[in-house]
Amino acid sequence: MHDRFLRACRRERVDRTPLWIMRQAGRYLPEYRALRERADFLTVCRTPDLAVEATLQPLRRFPLDAAILFSDILLPLEALGCRMTFSPGPRLDQPVRTRAQVEALAARPAAEAVPFVAEAVRLLRRELEGRTPLIGFCGAPFTLAAYLVQGDGTRGFEAVKTMLFREPATLELLLSKLAASMADYLRLQVEAGAQAVQIFDSWAGILGLEEYRRFALPFVRQVVDGVAGLGAPVVYFVNAGPHLLEAAATSGAGVLGVCWRTPLDVVASKVGGGVALQGNLDPHVLFADAGTIAAHAGRILSGVAGRPGHVMNLGHGILPDTPIAGVEALVDAVHRFQPCTT
Ligand code: CP3
Repeated sequence: MHDRFLRACRRERVDRTPLWIMRQAGRYLPEYRALRERADFLTVCRTPDLAVEATLQPLRRFPLDAAILFSDILLPLEALGCRMTFSPGPRLDQPVRTRAQVEALAARPAAEAVPFVAEAVRLLRRELEGRTPLIGFCGAPFTLAAYLVQGDGTRGFEAVKTMLFREPATLELLLSKLAASMADYLRLQVEAGAQAVQIFDSWAGILGLEEYRRFALPFVRQVVDGVAGLGAPVVYFVNAGPHLLEAAATSGAGVLGVCWRTPLDVVASKVGGGVALQGNLDPHVLFADAGTIAAHAGRILSGVAGRPGHVMNLGHGILPDTPIAGVEALVDAVHRFQPCTT
């Protein structure tokens, strides 16, 4: 197996910088759109053969250095009794707004609530053996709470911030339930064969630093601690959080995933050498010509070239209208990159 992704996560020496792309399976791929003609999104997620197919689609097209399980961060909330639909974004049947609703959330083991996830991971490991490492994932407790309390993501997340300032203890109870449930969910994936895991904190950036330190970071630490000792590197991706980076680097995860807003060499100097970094090309760069893509990718790669532990990626998920040629140009640029040694 080529393990440069796992090696870079551990800050070990690599033959070249590994590359994968957040949200690499999805609507920018015509073959994914064809799969979705046959089955709705939740059916793809819940049917192991279809989830395997969606996971493998980007790898058939591009020589990427990791696969990521096809699913969604909201799906394991079914273990807490939450029901949802997607169109295309998630919508909870019943937002969780009151103390009584939070208290009523009773977690079932992920192995019982979402057995199809473990099955998809097992099938994928068989398919990928000898080729590419597999990443499992979950949402960070605060990001999941943002969706749970709001109900959906279409009009911002005032509801979770209102709960934070009005009823902090209720939010903390919700976050601790989510942290325990996500630790269990990540363990399920690693035990089924996921070789690394990523925690997506897509909405951490709506918090100020003080609130982040109280309502986000400790619960991420609980999730990280829950998989510590299983040997799978943990990537913690923080979106829209230039003001949070130094704090986020102390989550216990070995890899910090960085959004596109801060140059990666600046991030490296802020957080020191104790964590590997993943990122952070602005997803919109992939709409430009190949030369521009290579120039932007090259700037990121050379900015951290002497520093052990870099996984190349976008600084947020790939956009649905992204041209295939843009992804090809990025793969090519990463494969050709030679650090300047003079
Ligand atoms: O290759 C992959 O990464 C696919 C697996 C994956 C999906 N969602 C599939 C998906 C992963 C890792 C996610 C994570 C996810 N989901 C996040 C964190 C990453 C981020 O972008 O910040 C978040 C916030 C969600 C919640 C979510 N799910 C949204 C906001 C949406 C709609 C808008 C969008 O980005 O597409 C979804 C739906 C969703 N999840 C789709 C896919 C392929 C589109 C559904 C469809 O096919 O109609």
